[in-house]
Amino acid sequence: MSVRPSRESCQRCAACAHEIGELDAAAVCPRCGGLLELEHPSVGDAATLRTRFVSRRTAMTGPDHSGVWRYRELVLPSIRPEEIVSHPEGNTPLMARPAVAAWTGIERLLMKHEGHNPTGSFKDRGMTVAMTQARRTNARAVACASTGNTSASLAAYAALAGLPALVFVPVGKVALGKIAQTMAYGARTLLVRGNFDDCLSLARDASAALGIHLLNSVNPFRLEGQKTIVLELLDQLDWDPPEWIALPAGNLGNTAAFGKALREAYARGLITRVPRIAAVQASGAAPFAESFRGGFAERLRVDPDTIATAIRIGAPASWDRAVRTINETNGVVTSVSDDEILEAKAVIDAAGVGCEPASAASVAGVKQLRSLGVIAPTERVVAVLTGHVLKDPGAVVAYHQDTEPRPEHANRPIEIDPLVSEVERVLMLPAERGNG
Ligand code: F0G
Repeated sequence: MSVRPSRESCQRCAACAHEIGELDAAAVCPRCGGLLELEHPSVGDAATLRTRFVSRRTAMTGPDHSGVWRYRELVLPSIRPEEIVSHPEGNTPLMARPAVAAWTGIERLLMKHEGHNPTGSFKDRGMTVAMTQARRTNARAVACASTGNTSASLAAYAALAGLPALVFVPVGKVALGKIAQTMAYGARTLLVRGNFDDCLSLARDASAALGIHLLNSVNPFRLEGQKTIVLELLDQLDWDPPEWIALPAGNLGNTAAFGKALREAYARGLITRVPRIAAVQASGAAPFAESFRGGFAERLRVDPDTIATAIRIGAPASWDRAVRTINETNGVVTSVSDDEILEAKAVIDAAGVGCEPASAASVAGVKQLRSLGVIAPTERVVAVLTGHVLKDPGAVVAYHQDTEPRPEHANRPIEIDPLVSEVERVLMLPAERGNG
């Protein structure tokens, strides 16, 4: 028998404070149906933790090699190495790119590129923890609703864990790369005639009725993994926090996770100042931004529509805990148009970085908040790029090749006959604006 108790965490309901054990597989609070949150025992002081995190950086194998499990004292302290389901994940770069910084007007802009995860999005950080927990609690199958990235990630981690996977996605509204991954990694893929909110509602009902483990971000173990985006970026900055962290916001799981990470890092003395969170929605799917403008007086829902299909969500599930993040970090919520998203994406892509449309919302939001004077030009900002450029090849081709009138940053391909003279003719063409 294994010995756990001293390092064991509990799951507490955010609504009624009811407490259940770490190994209880309840999807929500058994008493009131509220969302659960993990609470960990304190393991080591700040100096000890920092030294330990640094010493793990050079590991080439095992849990220390993962940018999630390296921080396991703050993620799931009781975990044993042999229980972990890891590809590995994390270890994503913090990038400075002058062209993107200049476009936003923030000189000290950094981008934390979560597209460098094994399935190309930040979802892998939450999935390694949720899948580890699902296997640890003897799940017979796992499921999620998704706009595409969670499904790709769930499929890849279920394959690694050897568990059957079921995904619910909105038919016709998932980017090509994501649906391709989901099928390739072997998940049973259900194309639901409805939007993401319909998918989540169905996934919740079906999981409860059929005893399947739900691995959406309502699952508290997902958020523990996603906290490490913040922990890792703070670690990369030697625990000297930026003034702002900007991220795209859809179902609000990540916004909730970022707040929890900062709250805990501050409580444990890892940081002495809390960065402000800027959550950015697409204007066609912006109930949270609209509610923020009204002082969060109302919980809103909308009929969502945006080119950024990853965040095409009208009734975000992690609403209350995301409100807490914004309030506790003196944060802001804003929204940007599809045109602003596509322009930001073109600038990020042309810097050789690349990201999917939803990810570019964070950078578009930084530019907007700078021009409104909310972010000062000298402040240090980390914008999180949540997904890889290849996730949505359709959006790239449509922008560069098909959109009329030609967008400012469009890089049109040119068809030629196989002749050197043709190449020469093309070389003589004046560089098009944004294309030189
Ligand atoms: N960026 C990308 C690339 C995403 O895939 C998502 C969410 C978000 C941002 C927003 O994060 O929901 O935590 O506020 N994608 C989910 C999915 C909904 O199913 O893949 P959030």
